[in-house]
Amino acid sequence: MEFYNQLLENNKEWVSSSLKEDPEFFSRLSKGQQPPLLWIGCADSRVPANEIIGAPPGEVFVHRNIANMVIHTDMSMLSVLDYAVNVLNVKHIIVCGHYGCGGVKAAMSNAHIGLIDNWIRHIKDVYRFNHEELDAIEDETVRFDRFVELNVREQVMDLGKTSIVQNAWKNKQKLHIHGWVYGINDGLIKDLNISLQDNQELDAVYQLDI
Ligand code: CO
Repeated sequence: MEFYNQLLENNKEWVSSSLKEDPEFFSRLSKGQQPPLLWIGCADSRVPANEIIGAPPGEVFVHRNIANMVIHTDMSMLSVLDYAVNVLNVKHIIVCGHYGCGGVKAAMSNAHIGLIDNWIRHIKDVYRFNHEELDAIEDETVRFDRFVELNVREQVMDLGKTSIVQNAWKNKQKLHIHGWVYGINDGLIKDLNISLQDNQELDAVYQLDI
């Protein structure tokens, strides 16, 4: 119980130190939220969204799953996306992957883990789309790192393909989608310099006539 009880103690300390710094901290947050950013990241415990970008409560709307995937039949992801874009009017969506991602690593192998195999299949699809580039990389770590980056790029494009994002662009809503990769080793974020802001960069078959 020690670890568990410590969490509740930590919470009390956090409340008092937050109030010491800013007596209005909680009363202000209780009035509502207007975060400018939706974060889609990995569930990995080493990649806490707010902490690594120094964002206080109220600034980031967060969705996390294994390997920061954008699966367009995932009702949870779609609901987060719809609320972020159409109610909160976020200006940016960041897909943040990370080097050393266990989900991506599993997708490169033939490991059978359990139910999660079915989730990881979506990542295997990304390998298949990029197999020529990836198979040509001999060093396994380099190939793994590149796969992490290509997976992020694919998820950025998959966000752009959603009806939610294409509708927002059609309505002239400013909405930029970015792809980042976080380094577990050094804490630094690499910007993949993908800034999707209209549907023209999507393959023609995905461009919806809205
Ligand atoms: Co991960």
